[in-house]
Amino acid sequence: MSERASVLEVKHLSAHFETEQGIVRAVDDVSFSVKEGETVCVVGESGCGKSVTAMSVMGLVQTDVKGDLFFKGKNLAELSRGDLRRVRGNDLAMIFQEPMSSLNPVLTIGEQIMEPLLVHHPYSKKQARHKAIELIELVGIGRAEQIFKSYPHQLSGGMLQRIMIAIALSCDPDMLIADEPTTALDVTIQAQVLDLLRTLQEERNMSMLLITHDLGVVAEVADFVVVMYAGKVIETGTVHDIFASPKHPYTKGLLYAKPVLGNRTKKLYTIPGQVPNLVDLTPSCYFHERCEHAMDICREKMPTLKLEDRQHVACWLYEKEVKG
Ligand SMILES: Nc1ncnc2c1ncn2[C@@H]1O[C@H](COP(=O)(O)OP(=O)(O)OP(=O)(O)O)[C@@H](O)[C@H]1O
Ligand code: SF4
Ligand SMILES: [Mg+2]
Repeated sequence: MSERASVLEVKHLSAHFETEQGIVRAVDDVSFSVKEGETVCVVGESGCGKSVTAMSVMGLVQTDVKGDLFFKGKNLAELSRGDLRRVRGNDLAMIFQEPMSSLNPVLTIGEQIMEPLLVHHPYSKKQARHKAIELIELVGIGRAEQIFKSYPHQLSGGMLQRIMIAIALSCDPDMLIADEPTTALDVTIQAQVLDLLRTLQEERNMSMLLITHDLGVVAEVADFVVVMYAGKVIETGTVHDIFASPKHPYTKGLLYAKPVLGNRTKKLYTIPGQVPNLVDLTPSCYFHERCEHAMDICREKMPTLKLEDRQHVACWLYEKEVKG
């Protein structure tokens, strides 16, 4: 089988913020790629840099972002402003965690779906209206004509998230970035929205970068997994390899912390301690204070990502010279 082409390549991405407390290394030397038709999930605890990674790809962070971003083989830094706007408005779309904060409360749903169609395509108003109604139907909402005329506050959370998906799909993107798209929804609606995303992705052979802290979601939709910790990628692998044989102690902890059906009597495991303050980081494995395997070298030197079996993992346990 031929190797699928990369749609998005993120190379050595760093996004640091200057604050009164010091420099926050929100994302530090992060690299991964997303191939055609593939779903890559970025996982990790709150504050580990998942959203800043996504926002950096979309050009939405208010700080200097370092590193290279390639979209369908083109370096985004080398595109003209117009081409860059076309890529980020057309070919790459993003949906956010909180639909209410991304929609304008004083505009109708129809107006908000029509806007990107009118800006990025040579649609007449009538054609854009027709397409908007088609999109509302595509994301599984009935009474599309009526919904078209509604305002955001008249819709449920699940419907609003479907509308966000409709807006994201309006320009037929090659890739969709979804930042915790189901976190704000109740479990049944969450499953429906995930199903919808998966179906649309398969039908359109769209690539998807899905950000979540929920390993249940990862198991459902991911082909490939990127585990982040304190602004760094600490493990990557196929969904099968990550679930069947996690290598990094943090990934193992995340999987161990996942509830399992039939285990009601046992207290849920939580990884001890907290993500370190991203301002005070010294060269070390950032997980060392929480790791039961920590060795002297872990406190002194940062491990780099190395291939171990079929996964990349940044942990001294897998360094041959340390293992002896
Ligand atoms: N504009 C900013 N200025 C300073 N620090 C920031 C800024 N934006 C993000 N950060 C910090 O960067 C770190 C990573 O934030 P990010 O939002 O990417 O986390 P996350 O993994 O998406 O977490 P969550 O799961 O809670 O959404 C956090 O410590 C956050 O406080
Ligand atoms: S490098 Fe050391 S502290 Fe870090 S995860 Fe591996 S064993 Fe634990
Ligand atoms: Mg986030």
